[in-house]
Amino acid sequence: MYLDDRLVQVGSRAFDILELLILARGKTVTKDEILRRVWPNSVVEENNIHVQLSALRKILGADKHAICTISGRGYRLIVPAEATAPAVLPEAVHSGQTAAARRHGLPVCHVPLLGREGAIADIIRALQETPIVSLLGPGGIGKTQLGIAVARSIAAASEVDVCFVTLAAVENAQGVINMIAGALGAGHADDEATLQSLIAAVRGRKLLVVLDNCEHVIDPAATVCELLVQASADLRILATSREPLRTREEKFYWVAPLDTPDAGASPAAIQACSSVRLFLAQMRAFNAEVETDAGSLEMVATICRRLDGVPLALELAAARAAVFGIRKTISGLDDRFHFLTGGRRTAPPRQQTLEATLDWSYQLLSTTERIVLHRLGVFPARFSLEAACAVAACERLSHNEVTEAIVGLASKCVVMTALDSKTKEYFLLETTREYALRKLYESDEADDVLTRSAAYLASFYAQPRARSFTTARLADNLAAESVATR
Ligand SMILES: Nc1ncnc2c1ncn2[C@@H]1O[C@H](COP(=O)(O)OP(=O)(O)OP(=O)(O)O)[C@@H](O)[C@H]1O
Ligand SMILES: [Mg+2]
Repeated sequence: MYLDDRLVQVGSRAFDILELLILARGKTVTKDEILRRVWPNSVVEENNIHVQLSALRKILGADKHAICTISGRGYRLIVPAEATAPAVLPEAVHSGQTAAARRHGLPVCHVPLLGREGAIADIIRALQETPIVSLLGPGGIGKTQLGIAVARSIAAASEVDVCFVTLAAVENAQGVINMIAGALGAGHADDEATLQSLIAAVRGRKLLVVLDNCEHVIDPAATVCELLVQASADLRILATSREPLRTREEKFYWVAPLDTPDAGASPAAIQACSSVRLFLAQMRAFNAEVETDAGSLEMVATICRRLDGVPLALELAAARAAVFGIRKTISGLDDRFHFLTGGRRTAPPRQQTLEATLDWSYQLLSTTERIVLHRLGVFPARFSLEAACAVAACERLSHNEVTEAIVGLASKCVVMTALDSKTKEYFLLETTREYALRKLYESDEADDVLTRSAAYLASFYAQPRARSFTTARLADNLAAESVATR
């Protein structure tokens, strides 16, 4: 758990109690409720609650009075002013408001963000130029945390109200509208909110809405965003999503992985990388002994590279390394979907395990996109569209369909586009590739796909024409992999 910017360890029972108190939003939580929720399958003495509460108060230190004992009944959390502030501030009181009062629903417990200083500045600039900016990237890359950091900066430095809306639990258009209305304080509890009520709530206000987690309701989210920014010139929307909204006047910002050390980097260079800093900080948070000799750092660098600098994966791996050690963690990555489980209890279900985060994206793919993704798993390095079609197309799937599917997969941040090459090239992050290969081997088409990739290799090496370095390297990698898999 984060206390301000500090990571602290909390026992699971104490954490459950704290969660209950937070969810009660300042209301009293009775001892019975705590016993039922925290010890659901056992009968325990009330004394257990006292033990957990005194541990919690110890952790809170100077803030220990935030947990208030209601004599004979239970406990309640004294909620900071920020969380109880009305969702909508009347226009007249805008100026002179503190930054805290302007942050509506913006999560308070935030991680100290590593390696995102440049990104924050770029996104703030983009929001000055365009009404809608979407932060895009695969699961766990840090879109939400970056969105929160941007919103905090804007609230601290300007008179703009900031409102955080999470769409994770929403399933349809009405849900999107209701959720935004709830955060803006528009509409009434008993009625379904309407687009008109949203428009009325944003009109004339200097407002930034962070719309978190749009990908599974992408169509309604896009429609609502476009209508809202058309209705109010002072409104800005920062969406986080694994897929672009594709609205008018939208800027895309692809959130990059944290930087990872090159193979052979010096110990100092390894420690300077943000992925390594995140990994080591997470290990320390678990009170693990962290060795920083050259050999240990080399292994940490390998872990960071193999997890592509994705913060969520690094957090999961650091938790494992704290228990099993760094060496065992490296070998665990070969079976990463079984090894990287047990995420933070408070994380959304899609972030509890590495597999869940991939599943979330996978269930949003079309059938053709899924099939093509499985087949692309055979590529261990960058590949061209031509190579992809040679391996993924078959009698039942035309080149055009494969091309369309790759475009869809790239737009959903499942297939990555290499930005530094002149000709368009694609690749899979190592975790995505492992996932795709697992699905391929679960299907009955692995042999066909491997046969086609072998045929592609044979024709490639048979061609006398000059080959680009990347294509040749891909072919070599593919050949090496084919030998290994056969
Ligand atoms: N720059 C960073 N520095 C340190 N930790 C980070 C950073 N970015 C993300 N994290 C951590 O990584 C985890 C995943 O981040 P986040 O929830 O922002 O990912 P996301 O891209 O929004 O994922 P999803 O697609 O599932 O919504 C979080 O636990 C967060 O604390
Ligand atoms: Mg997110």
